[in-house]
Amino acid sequence: MRLKIIAGNWKMNKTNAEAVELTRVLVDLVGDREHPRVVICPPFTALSEVARTLTGSKIHLGAQNVYSEESGAFTGEISPAMLLTSGVSYVILGHSERREYFAESDQMVNAKVKMALQAGLLPIVCVGERLKEREAGLTEVVVGEQIDGSLAGLTEEQIAKTVIAYEPVWAIGTGKTATPEMAQDVHAFIRNRLKSRHGAVADEVTIQYGGSMKPDNASGLLSQPDIDGGLIGGASLKAEQFAKIVDSV
Ligand code: 13P
Repeated sequence: MRLKIIAGNWKMNKTNAEAVELTRVLVDLVGDREHPRVVICPPFTALSEVARTLTGSKIHLGAQNVYSEESGAFTGEISPAMLLTSGVSYVILGHSERREYFAESDQMVNAKVKMALQAGLLPIVCVGERLKEREAGLTEVVVGEQIDGSLAGLTEEQIAKTVIAYEPVWAIGTGKTATPEMAQDVHAFIRNRLKSRHGAVADEVTIQYGGSMKPDNASGLLSQPDIDGGLIGGASLKAEQFAKIVDSV
């Protein structure tokens, strides 16, 4: 059985007080849940306070980015050690918003993935095609390149620790979701690609779906054989909705 993971990507939302409040409600609703694994990813500024609020619960803490160097003159960046000492265990890397607005390439994502793994963080690596690419029949080309580039040079052991999130860009924050069948097709493609590049360990890799996942569409998506969880944006900011998605696994 592959590990199922429901993760909330809070993006650039929540002041510290708001983050703590949301976390308190989540601890009440799903704080004792081990299956699926629950991860919340607040902004950097709220990590330490959220970590304190999570004490004693089973919810894991994630960050939304990390830099690919250990320390030094990199104004505005955050190192893996800074995250680890703030109570973080997961880190989202290569989200389409970082690729789009901050020009992150597969090469940069790859450097961050390697640095995160070396430091002991578990990466959630995001891939996904834009609408134009899907319409041009390029989904597998684009996603295949992102998988190859972002995970280049990882050992089998490192691949086993890596989570993939398939997030079709056209489904993020738009209310448009891939149908369960469309998502399953790409998830199966990703698993086969991982198999061809990294071997049988691909069967152990958790592949999440992300893009307008909500309580009413979650169970259809999560019942597909290669969909092992979700990376939730908008609905993760509402405790009851997020908890319902956790419950639908
Ligand atoms: P939405 O759930 O708001 O579409 O966001 C998905 C996402 O980008 C999660 O990383």
